[in-house]
Amino acid sequence: MLSWMARQQELVGLDVGSSFIKIVQLQRSRDSYRLAKLAVAPIQPETIVDGTIMDAAAVSDTIQQLFAEHDITVKDVAFSVSGHSVIVKKIKVPQMKKAELREGIAWEAEQHIPYSMEDVNLDFQILREAGPGEQEMDVLLVAVKKETLNDYLAMIVTAGLSAAVVDVDAFAIENAFTISAQLQPDEVVALVNIGAAVTTINILRGGISDFTRDSSVGGNRHTESLQQSLGVSVEEAEAIKRGEPVHGHNFADARPVIEQVNSELAGEIRRSFDFYHSTSQSETIHRMVLSGGCALLPDLASYLSSALALPVEIADPFHHVVADPKEFDAEYLAAIAPQMTVAVGLALREPGDDAE
Ligand SMILES: Nc1ncnc2c1ncn2[C@@H]1O[C@H](COP(=O)(O)OP(=O)(O)OP(=O)(O)O)[C@@H](O)[C@H]1O
Ligand SMILES: [Mg+2]
Repeated sequence: MLSWMARQQELVGLDVGSSFIKIVQLQRSRDSYRLAKLAVAPIQPETIVDGTIMDAAAVSDTIQQLFAEHDITVKDVAFSVSGHSVIVKKIKVPQMKKAELREGIAWEAEQHIPYSMEDVNLDFQILREAGPGEQEMDVLLVAVKKETLNDYLAMIVTAGLSAAVVDVDAFAIENAFTISAQLQPDEVVALVNIGAAVTTINILRGGISDFTRDSSVGGNRHTESLQQSLGVSVEEAEAIKRGEPVHGHNFADARPVIEQVNSELAGEIRRSFDFYHSTSQSETIHRMVLSGGCALLPDLASYLSSALALPVEIADPFHHVVADPKEFDAEYLAAIAPQMTVAVGLALREPGDDAE
């Protein structure tokens, strides 16, 4: 295609988390990305609970404000859902053409998904075609509850935007990771994104997703535990987590409480790793890449590293993104980078590329 015809359609990555809205727009040139827009804003507790939007007006207002404040004019967004309304499963199906599988995916899915097919939106990706002498191929099946998806879509329309791509957090973190990763063919890497309400795990083997799981644990646990043990408010507990002293309490007082929750998080991740080991051929997970707002907790990466006995690095989704220091404060970017991983992964998507 001629270069003037190949003009990139633009798209904004919109990560609506239960505690922060994160927005990233990237500009793509031939082989690099430039940061065009970046916006982050907290949303009030109880606005999104257990993956359900309780106050859609508040969320769409915040999104609209962020778009206005940051002068974001692109209306097409890529967004993602996570938590228990999302099921991602690697399944085996008889070798067939993609078009045939599209016809038959509901039938295949029915055997793997505990919901009625009328209640879910299905998507799939062929991971590996049947090899010589094999009858079956590996397919990644994705099912999202329609109820949840429709709520998010309605909220996006209310914000004056249009959903060009629908994704799930697990693939968004994978996307963000794979733009900059150099992977060995047999390397097993666990991508772990710990947000406020959800921990998303995506284990990649040789760069291909081998296992994903979302569990309902995250930074809210630290916050709640601090509230109870120190008798502070949600806002105060959040401030203590960020290392800001709050009348008489500082991070040092909070450390035992935080460590207790860190050990619960480690236990939850360990259970997923054990499950992975029991169902896959891989014996070893070589390293973990930690993202999400909880990666900003000073001790979590080193805690997880010793508790799970593997190297843990903190995700830097901006590693391969050029950001003009006149527009974006480098120190600030570095400080929030891990929390922006899902949004960067979404911003990397292209309009219309969500159907397989
Ligand atoms: N500087 C910081 N230090 C410690 N913790 C932080 C910091 N910034 C954010 N957090 C914690 O990270 C969590 C928010 O992370 P994130 O933005 O990834 O979550 P979310 O996407 O809104 O939630 P979810 O996807 O789970 O619904 C909160 O629990 C918050 O307390
Ligand atoms: Mg999140």
